[in-house]
Amino acid sequence: MKKVKVKVPATSANLGPGFDSMGIALEIYNEIVIEKNKPFSIRIYGEGAEEILTTEENIVYQSAIMVLNIAKKRGFSDESNESFSISLHNNIPSTRGLGSSSSAVVGGILGMNSLLGNPLNIQELLGIAVKFEGHPDNALPAFFGGLVASMTEEDGTVFWKKKLLPEEWRYVIVIPKCMLSTVKAREILPKTVPMKDAVFNLSRLSLLMIGFETGDYNLVAKTMKDKLHEHYRASLVPGMQKAIQASRELEVPIALSGAGPTVIGIARNELHGSDLAGQMMNIFEKEGINADCKIVKGNKDGAMIEEVE
Ligand code: HSE
Repeated sequence: MKKVKVKVPATSANLGPGFDSMGIALEIYNEIVIEKNKPFSIRIYGEGAEEILTTEENIVYQSAIMVLNIAKKRGFSDESNESFSISLHNNIPSTRGLGSSSSAVVGGILGMNSLLGNPLNIQELLGIAVKFEGHPDNALPAFFGGLVASMTEEDGTVFWKKKLLPEEWRYVIVIPKCMLSTVKAREILPKTVPMKDAVFNLSRLSLLMIGFETGDYNLVAKTMKDKLHEHYRASLVPGMQKAIQASRELEVPIALSGAGPTVIGIARNELHGSDLAGQMMNIFEKEGINADCKIVKGNKDGAMIEEVE
């Protein structure tokens, strides 16, 4: 194989109480094309085209190189692989809490591994993705699709379980036009949390997982709440705390998506999705937050690899 395309879904991590430990995949995609035996170049089209680095610091490049270096040590790679070109066709809004960096890492890793004839196994690829990201909750649903609960063992091994999302549900994502870097949104978090806040999250997370498992929409609405990260992060965007609060009063599942600033609401079906999108957009407008909105389905299959002629 000389040229490969990897289509990677957007993801929404945390979903309220599941900080750093769960996420879902959504039907919005970035496409990462890698071609070997070409002079180094990185071309970017679509979302983030003006902001994303086109140098060797680009994370698709970096993650692909990591796979290449391991493959070389195992004798899987010759000089024809040393130089490659990348093109990115992005639909996932960048730096908004929808897993755009995970999509880049997963695309780089899977793309290079396929070009080299799959020298690394899935556990090794996941290990690289999690090392890059620092947490598994976006990378794993980007790999596998659906809802993925995950953890990292103390020796770095990643362990996960995937569950398909309820078929009818739709995801309303309200994407503020401001960016929020994950680094900044992690720096604002406290180093220790009160025991009662930890218990608040633990009790809701176990019920939330049962809600997804059984398709119990009301249970998901009741439990998709958090005390470990959301209110610290919401304070970074004027009006956000009130917008989240008012959206929750609609008695639907609402959460900050990943590190924000996107907010995700879950609707029972397509029709409810249109209503909810209108209601959430009104709330955000009232709070002075300029935002875009999309209604999307959950993704089932995760990243897809395709040989390109
Ligand atoms: N779990 C991570 C965080 C997701 O909340 O920082 C980053 O998108």
